Amino acid sequence: MTQAADSRVAHLPTTQYFCPSGDYDEMWRRADQDPEGFWGEQAMDLDWFKRWDKVLDWKVPYARWFVGGKLNLSYQCLDRHMKTEVKNKVAFHWEGELGDTQVLTYAELYRLTNNYAAALKRLGVKRGDRVALYLPMIPALPIFMLACARIGAIFTVVFSAFSGQALADRVEDVEAKIIVTSSGMHRRGKILPLKDNAVEAAKKCPCVEKIVVVKHTGHNVEMDPARDVWLNDLLAGCDEYVEPEHMDSNDPLFVLYTSGSTGKPKGILHGTGGYSLWIAKTMQWAFNTDKKTVWWCTADIGWITGHSYVVFAPLELGLTSVMYEGAPDYPTLDRWWQIIAKYGVTILYTSPTAIRMFMRHGEEWPAKHDLSSLRILGSVGEPINPEAWLWYYRNIGHERIGISDTWWQTETGGFMISPTPGIQPHFLKPGSATKPMPGIVPAVLDAEGKELPNGETGFIVIKKPWPGMLLDIYHNPELYQKTYWSRFPGYYLPGDYCMKDQDNFLWLLGRADEVIKVAGHRISTAELESAIVGHSAVAEAAATSRPDEIKGEAIIMFVTLRKGTPPSVEIKNELTRHLRATIGTLATPEEIFFVNLLPKTRSGKIMRRLLKAVATGATIGDTSTLDDGASVDEAKAAFAELSAGSHHYKSGERNPETKPMP
Ligand code: PRX
Repeated sequence: MTQAADSRVAHLPTTQYFCPSGDYDEMWRRADQDPEGFWGEQAMDLDWFKRWDKVLDWKVPYARWFVGGKLNLSYQCLDRHMKTEVKNKVAFHWEGELGDTQVLTYAELYRLTNNYAAALKRLGVKRGDRVALYLPMIPALPIFMLACARIGAIFTVVFSAFSGQALADRVEDVEAKIIVTSSGMHRRGKILPLKDNAVEAAKKCPCVEKIVVVKHTGHNVEMDPARDVWLNDLLAGCDEYVEPEHMDSNDPLFVLYTSGSTGKPKGILHGTGGYSLWIAKTMQWAFNTDKKTVWWCTADIGWITGHSYVVFAPLELGLTSVMYEGAPDYPTLDRWWQIIAKYGVTILYTSPTAIRMFMRHGEEWPAKHDLSSLRILGSVGEPINPEAWLWYYRNIGHERIGISDTWWQTETGGFMISPTPGIQPHFLKPGSATKPMPGIVPAVLDAEGKELPNGETGFIVIKKPWPGMLLDIYHNPELYQKTYWSRFPGYYLPGDYCMKDQDNFLWLLGRADEVIKVAGHRISTAELESAIVGHSAVAEAAATSRPDEIKGEAIIMFVTLRKGTPPSVEIKNELTRHLRATIGTLATPEEIFFVNLLPKTRSGKIMRRLLKAVATGATIGDTSTLDDGASVDEAKAAFAELSAGSHHYKSGERNPETKPMP
């Protein structure tokens, strides 16, 4: 598993960063040697209703930060700004896909959060109750998150491209009593019927008492008066101030479902005090934010990036943000660059998939617009290849500003490894997330848990707890222990490959487990498999991935059909529809192979490396099968059988005899 540092790596100076304010090495050392002293000092920047008794209580695998402290995140984001000049500053410049806009100042956001909190209370939502938020990128989503935080209700945001069934799975697991949704959402000129999906979920989940509907699209929506209520009706008379609950630092704030090694997504549980501190500090450090920052994180709030860095951290820091509802290429490929010029965005934080998509369409689109307001760029969600990094650096940053490539996860709450121009700029290498944040102590281990020398690839682990660390997996402490803490006891296991180069720069090299990253979205092979075998024509299935030029990875599925269903394009399309209906559009397979048998070892384990080799068109080398525990001969025989006997269909492919679909 040795990989030398990329020879194309250029050492780029970052003197363009403004106002570095510290000494990175010194700060990192301090946080490592005296974490309680360091974090205790940092936490003084938050407003506490009651100061903590103890900075850290660490009993593997549970870290409890600021034990005994009381605070409220909606207070951090709003109330405390009401006493300062931030009060009348713009919190969000919102822009809809249709070009409609809304400006929300901090004062207005504060007023609305109180109103929404009163409305939730009127529905009987109490501290500790769960609320599911299934909304597109409209202002109601951050407002409901803040309102839940205010009254101590645990919220779970479900990405709006998930299907009704996927929503139901999450609502059921978290036992939400309310689903908040919108009439629909705009996507590339179409209206998607979110409310219908919410109804499907509510019918499957007896825990749901009410669906609150935000009117966003103009189409007709059927309402069941016993269950459904329009937000506007609910808000009538809800204009009072709502006292923020005094939450314990370790009280849960939200549950966010993400994919792992099991068929069902797991509910990542985040707390209040440590999380609030971690996201605000890491944002300052990675992006050197200041009063004049106009921040645009393009992530959907349905993912952790949106939770931490669209909603909470920018508001804690009193920044002005841009929030955009629609697709990046709608109606034209320069929509994003128009937005940057229009609002004078100073920091753009986006994904490698988006960058690669723009790269494919050519530099003439950004070149049409004035991007001179930008002073830092960011990247997140998947490894960024050096070509995309350099394209971004040249065509968006015009070779004058640096890129903070931030490596982190749903579980980590905030950035873990990233350049830190807000502390001290260091040189950058395209494709490397560079150095750990203060408080993050990573190591690269081999399969036996031995620390590897620089230059070799292995598993990244984090040796010490940090304030943004997840509290638990919701209702599943065994899975929490097993997933993150059992392979290398005492160390947190993120599940990524990593290499530390000779300059101690870290290169995050993708997932080491059965998680696929499609356009930066996390989905597990087990989830895809369990969804597809739910179709009556499928006997057995295995999912794998193939590198994709734009999306990073594409889903490839191997399926054995039940007797009586021959392989055809129709069944392939039917299975694709089934996957999209069970999970959502991100589960669309690029290709489906129909095979007579899935290749398995004598002990019955699917030979995943072999499937990957077939999917990528690689040959079977001696090492490629070792991880599966299969012998090379066994694997070669299975490979020959697969290559000879499979029918495969690519996405969008049709039988020659069938007519194109309308
Ligand atoms: O594999 C890593 C990849 O995304 C995974 C976490 O996915 P998720 O929980 O959905 O959070 C995405 C947003 C933080 C990681 O295990 N990943 C994320 N950022 C990077 C990355 N891989 C390489 N470089 C990154 N900057």
